[in-house]
Amino acid sequence: MTKSNRKPFVLANWKINLDPEEINPYLDQVLPAVADEEAVTVGIAAQDLYLGQLVARTKGSQLKIAAENTHWMDRGAFTGETSPRALAKVGVTYVLIGHFERRSFFNETDETVNLKVKAALRNGLLPIVDLDEDLSAYHGQVPEDVVLKQLAAALDGVVGTDLARVTIAYEPTWAIGSGEAASPEQAEEAAALIRQSVQNLYGPDIAANVRILYGGSVTPENGTDFLSQADIDGILVGKAALTPASFLALVAAAKAATAS
Ligand code: 13P
Repeated sequence: MTKSNRKPFVLANWKINLDPEEINPYLDQVLPAVADEEAVTVGIAAQDLYLGQLVARTKGSQLKIAAENTHWMDRGAFTGETSPRALAKVGVTYVLIGHFERRSFFNETDETVNLKVKAALRNGLLPIVDLDEDLSAYHGQVPEDVVLKQLAAALDGVVGTDLARVTIAYEPTWAIGSGEAASPEQAEEAAALIRQSVQNLYGPDIAANVRILYGGSVTPENGTDFLSQADIDGILVGKAALTPASFLALVAAAKAATAS
């Protein structure tokens, strides 16, 4: 399997950080550097309230905007939720689904993750499926059947032709926000198992093309170590992406990885 057909992906996950008045100064620094970036997919996931502004400011650029969550129903009486149909219509490109913080603080289950993945695909959004909950207990020693079970649940009913629009992220819970990243070897082991699981479910061609990201305490210091692994195609970055300079350093690292 070669990495060359998988464009590296660097996604900032702002979570609910940054105040409204910080958005434009952030983009003033980041946008000129990535607006024409073709070699790396660069994205920002932000809270819903900011998505319209982000879409408007990044229009015509290569910087992609992601939601951090979606509801699974397109319309209806679901007070306080955000519809995948509305996200697509306002110009959001990607949506994070099943982040550890959603699973642990908001009771998301494999079943709701699966409903949301299908809702995203149905509406033309590109889902980034976060695998973490069960895998965290293994601290990097991830048994294949655990990966396969979580992945199969998230992708239940998703047909192979839709996998081209799916990204998978491995974020061990113990590494998120802790300053204790997985070792590159641990992360690669998990990514390789995820790819093997995709192969078991969908066959080798689809497995060879699906992008798999690592997230959890990624910094400009360790980013290259993850990006250079055979099965890791990108990084999902929380804290280190809140500062434009360190986010751009990680984009540069991903770009350099394509050249090596
Ligand atoms: P940190 O980079 O702050 O550990 O957050 C990772 C994360 O949750 C990205 O989705």
